Amino acid sequence: MRSEFLPFSQPAINQDDIDGVVEVLKSGWITTGPKTAAFEEAFCKYLGAEYSVSLTSATAGMHLTLMTLGLNPGDEVITPSMTWGSTINLLMILGLKPVFADIDRRTLMVTPESIKKVLTDKTRAIIPVHFAGAPVDLDPIREIAAQRDIVLIEDAAHGLGARYKGDLIGKTGTAVFSFHPIKNITTGEGGMVVSDNQDIAEKVRILKFHGLAKDAWQRYSRDGKSQVEIIMPGFKYNLTDIQSSLGLTQLARVEELNDRRGELSALYDRLLSDISGISHIESPAYPHKNSYHLYIVILDIDRLTITRDQFVDRLKEKNIGTGIHFRPVHKIGRAHV
Ligand SMILES: Cc1ncc(COP(=O)(O)O)c(C=O)c1O
Repeated sequence: MRSEFLPFSQPAINQDDIDGVVEVLKSGWITTGPKTAAFEEAFCKYLGAEYSVSLTSATAGMHLTLMTLGLNPGDEVITPSMTWGSTINLLMILGLKPVFADIDRRTLMVTPESIKKVLTDKTRAIIPVHFAGAPVDLDPIREIAAQRDIVLIEDAAHGLGARYKGDLIGKTGTAVFSFHPIKNITTGEGGMVVSDNQDIAEKVRILKFHGLAKDAWQRYSRDGKSQVEIIMPGFKYNLTDIQSSLGLTQLARVEELNDRRGELSALYDRLLSDISGISHIESPAYPHKNSYHLYIVILDIDRLTITRDQFVDRLKEKNIGTGIHFRPVHKIGRAHV
């Protein structure tokens, strides 16, 4: 048995990450500034995307992206229940109606067919989740959205480095990434909205910093104007240069980090293959590259003599940490706003 507890996830921090942060701390400018601009630029370059706007979390990014769409109370947004609760929280806070599309049990992702089943005249947006590192079947979902003039926002919290038919997730369309410490790269906390829609990207940029037309560092820099108008009521969701430095050095290693995740995933596949009652989620049939964000084990409770929670406890007794991704939101949500 392991002598020390193995946490479910630990960030992969190296000396470059540490040196970069120290450099920012010594630089005299630690909040949103040149490092953040460089991180956004590097992110666009990596994905081949047009616009990137960094924020304090993916939740903040999803919040503001939804706000740019001009939706009205009662408008319906299709998303899976098999997701992190933040999306549903936001929909409820904004007075929108979450409509759950079924997932395919094999991949745990929504399908074009399951989305079609819940489309109504009130559907205004679809938020599919690229789950655990595999991409959703984007082409037919994009077609549904285009036909009905519905906005597609990809929840790419798990999807940095994943590819759909050759293209990195986020290259086209609008996608929201997370840099929470368990994600493929981290900034401590953080997120990025990536879009090929200039209007969405610009509004998110304005909304993330009080509704000001410019970031603080642009005002305080030598050539900046100190007086800037608030052009719409906004939030305080800006990523700092300390975090963005981490983002830059982590992003430089994203392919290497994902390759290592892939190796570990293959090792688990091999070692778990003969154990009855345990299986893992399936890879989608269309061409794709996985980012290996989560390794998901599915327990066949009918064949095991213990429950899921007992299984988790037994692993803990053996010093192995796990996470449950996810309890479906419709089963855990108690708030009725
Ligand atoms: C599918 C999914 N969407 C959104 C989020 C929210 O990301 P953040 O913690 O950066 O707000 C998460 C976080 O775990 C997630 O797993």
